[in-house]
Amino acid sequence: MRLDWLARGLDDIPTFDDWLGPFEAARLATMRFPKRRAEYRLRRWAGKTSVAMMLGLPLDPDALGRVEVRTVPGGAPVAYLDGAPAPVRVSLTDRSGWAVSTVSTGMAAFGCDLELVEPRSAAFVADWLTPTEQAVVNAVTGVERDVLANLTWSAKESALKVLKTGLRRDTRSVAVTLDDAAQAGWHQLHVTATEGPVYPGWWRRYGAFVLSVVTDRELAPPGSLDDPPRLTTAQPREAPIGPPLPPA
Ligand SMILES: CC(C)(COP(=O)(O)OP(=O)(O)OC[C@H]1O[C@@H](n2cnc3c(N)ncnc32)[C@H](O)[C@@H]1OP(=O)(O)O)[C@@H](O)C(=O)NCCC(=O)NCCS
Repeated sequence: MRLDWLARGLDDIPTFDDWLGPFEAARLATMRFPKRRAEYRLRRWAGKTSVAMMLGLPLDPDALGRVEVRTVPGGAPVAYLDGAPAPVRVSLTDRSGWAVSTVSTGMAAFGCDLELVEPRSAAFVADWLTPTEQAVVNAVTGVERDVLANLTWSAKESALKVLKTGLRRDTRSVAVTLDDAAQAGWHQLHVTATEGPVYPGWWRRYGAFVLSVVTDRELAPPGSLDDPPRLTTAQPREAPIGPPLPPA
């Protein structure tokens, strides 16, 4: 089985909402803050485009409207086609104006997370990383430290998506180890949960971004649905911050 991925940016999204399905439109309607709405729409655009590509559908608003990436209790995304579960699994993430969707038609569980390579405070590292991870991050300085801190955080979030808990679970209960192996531009890692299971994964840096994918079984690095991947030239850009919409 294989895992594929794509990235989409804020500028890719149509102005209108006719490509959202009824479940997605109803969830969007509960969001009053422009930044939250923009990030939700961005994740939907990436997720729906990737699911449509896996299903061989056209990518126009009508076809995308047939696809939904719904939210189940707990927050995990589930793909639907014409109102019924679609034979595609999906994981979503966004950061600084760019969303990534990883997709597969196989049975593996997986999670992805996109982060910026940005300075992280000593308090962040001490509060959220395990002592071993802290030692790895604190052994280097400058950009190298920024990459390690954000990559470690990203791999934790990816693992917490595999586990379907998100941040309800202590981030120090999943320990990230960076491996030496690399393949097709991706570097290998693994995440060990305190209760025993080990989750393999991959990471790579794209300019200002670092992307990780964690799975519940050994898989080849994810393949890009775009050639070249859109993250290759992506620039970070914040979603608009504005006053909340009036209550409906
Ligand atoms: C999972 C989580 C760590 C990701 O947070 P983040 O880094 O700020 O956001 P990202 O952009 O990387 O990822 C957001 C996506 O993670 C996915 N996600 C959220 N919770 C998830 C879970 N429990 N399992 C797997 N994926 C999850 C969703 O697809 C979400 O996007 P969507 O809401 O548009 O579908 C965070 O959302 C979390 O801890 N969620 C659980 C707690 C919570 O508040 N749940 C809300 C219930 S609806």
